[in-house]
Amino acid sequence: ADRERAAMREAYHLVARFYQYLLTHTEYGERARAYLRQRGVADDTMAAFQLGYAPDAPDAVAKFLARRKFSLPLMEKAGLVAYSASRGTYVDRFRRRVMFPICDGQGQVVAFGGRILGPGEPKYLNSPETPLFQKSALLFNLHRARKAIRQRQQAVLMEGYLDVVAAHQAGVENAVATLGTALSPEQARILRRNAEQVVICYDGDEAGMEAARKAGLVLREAGCLVKVALLPDGMDPDDVIRERGAAHFRDHVLGGAVSFMAFTLRYLRKGRDLRDEVERMRYIRDCLAELAHVPSAVERDHYLRQLAEEFHLSLEALKREQWNVYKRLK
Ligand code: UTP
Ligand code: MN
Ligand code: MN
Ligand code: MN
Ligand code: MN
Repeated sequence: ADRERAAMREAYHLVARFYQYLLTHTEYGERARAYLRQRGVADDTMAAFQLGYAPDAPDAVAKFLARRKFSLPLMEKAGLVAYSASRGTYVDRFRRRVMFPICDGQGQVVAFGGRILGPGEPKYLNSPETPLFQKSALLFNLHRARKAIRQRQQAVLMEGYLDVVAAHQAGVENAVATLGTALSPEQARILRRNAEQVVICYDGDEAGMEAARKAGLVLREAGCLVKVALLPDGMDPDDVIRERGAAHFRDHVLGGAVSFMAFTLRYLRKGRDLRDEVERMRYIRDCLAELAHVPSAVERDHYLRQLAEEFHLSLEALKREQWNVYKRLK
């Protein structure tokens, strides 16, 4: 099994270089280069992330690996090729896609995310889970971002590969992304080991807000100080950087990130009509239940006052109510 892992590692290493070569030095990669440039990715950013191109050939990688004496059944397990019954031979898993190498903590390529050039389904095709690659145990770009994360004691958590690439290009070097799945407790622990604070910077849509709430809970459980960046409606970090510029993204979006509690107060409003008295009372109770998680009395007081002011309640009444909520939670 150790030997199989080593072979998979070697294969991913070589194939990443093969894809990178095709993107940067051949005419096959021309369309992909144009696609990336049109999306604002500079050539040196492509190099920094070892971006590549999986060509439009049925078996370029299969042949590449066979020539180097890799076992193709093993390469199928590694998720680089797939057996085609109709052809009676192995064919490439990734075709006509921009390739984002996914590295482990040491910076070794262990998987790929491949984006289609333009519209189409699936937008991203990812390597399957293998002995080298468990989605819930890795974060995209962690090995490159680790130093900046430690220095600043802050990590920026994003949803997408391209968000992280764009952030890096915008001078935000402490960004990482999950791999198309919800943030796992293990990923949260990895972040906590490297930094005190995590700024969640998910897409500015309904799904992003839901995911941010869930990620925040997992991060808080892991002991992180959590902030949430609020993105303009319908935009993700990559969109914001391209349309509004790097400085705006850094200073306003990341710089304006709010505490997880402030985010949660907004989150709890969603889909509620606060003019309705019953819903308003439920909202206030939910907020009080949330506040039970805020360890700092000063911070709690701040939000209590905010609620009291907004809903014209006495602070005394809110505090008494909070006490009841506490007791119920225990
Ligand atoms: P998004 O749909 O937000 O894509 O998915 P994106 O990152 O903004 O990509 P562009 O800008 O359209 O190119 C966020 C992340 O979810 C995973 C990928 O990791 C992606 O970066 N995902 C998404 C998949 O794995 N497969 C998909 O088909 C779509
Ligand atoms: Mn999205
Ligand atoms: Mn997105
Ligand atoms: Mn995007
Ligand atoms: Mn601005």
